[in-house]
Amino acid sequence: MATRRVVGWRFVLAGAALLCAALLATRSAASEPAPGPVADPEHGKVLYLQHCVPCHGARAWGDGPREIPALAAQPEAYLAAQLTRFASGDRQGSAMHGPAMRDTLAATDVNRAPAIRDLAAYLARAPAAPRAEPGAGRSLDAGRSAYLRGCAACHGEDGTGAVGAATPRLGGQHYRYLLSRLREFGAVHRGEPGTPALAAQDLEAVADYLSRLSPPHTAP
Ligand code: HEC
Ligand code: HEC
Repeated sequence: MATRRVVGWRFVLAGAALLCAALLATRSAASEPAPGPVADPEHGKVLYLQHCVPCHGARAWGDGPREIPALAAQPEAYLAAQLTRFASGDRQGSAMHGPAMRDTLAATDVNRAPAIRDLAAYLARAPAAPRAEPGAGRSLDAGRSAYLRGCAACHGEDGTGAVGAATPRLGGQHYRYLLSRLREFGAVHRGEPGTPALAAQDLEAVADYLSRLSPPHTAP
């Protein structure tokens, strides 16, 4: 009898504590903004249209012949990491275009962690171009096997990169941009363990093979 009453009281107390916790949670949710940084893709779009369109294009599909990379549908963490590196000068970019990226990212409304976060959020959600600038199509089989052998473990079998990690999507990127990055293979990978050297005769084949893979969520 006595034990049953004690157990009963425990239930009442536990119930009351839960109710208090629930009430407190609703109150703070209603009166305070959500804690922590939350990306705002709409703000990212405003910044993008203001600063980036002349080179990367209205839909962020880049420009193959000008070696300007497509940005739409790149993993968010990769985009944020690269923008941070351009802003700090850690990534210099190519001799022809690097300074332009650096100047763009010096603008006071862009050179801030929240702006970079919002730009990355917008671009990662933007639909990718249905196709990229391809290469000459001469040795796609060799490109495929070199890619699967040395690169797929990190960049994904289908070239989609790693969502959540700062590993870029390579499938559906423009041929000439990929080639320019592959010529700097060691610098691009910053000596990351597990990245094999890419044989000179495979550079074009790998870039060509990758440029022809379908990117994720393409535009209709
Ligand atoms: C004057 C032309 C120009 C402008 C303006 C420009 N970019 Fe770029 N961007 C480039 C070029 C060219 C590259 C390739 C740089 C290199 O050679 O490494 C690049 C590279 C990048 C990369 C790295 C992509 C990758 O796959 O590694 C990101 C991200 C990027 N730009 C985002 C932006 C954003 C966001 C803006 C606007 C705030 C912007 N760019 C404005 C020309 C430009
Ligand atoms: C151990 C994992 C790993 C392996 C293996 C690897 N990569 Fe990468 N790769 C990365 C990471 C991480 C980055 C981004 C580096 C950074 O933060 O700037 C990258 C960047 C790149 C870029 C630049 C993309 C851009 O948009 O500018 C290219 C191109 C590339 N890798 C091609 C290759 C190829 C081709 C191979 C195989 C021969 C390969 N990688 C093997 C992890 C890897």
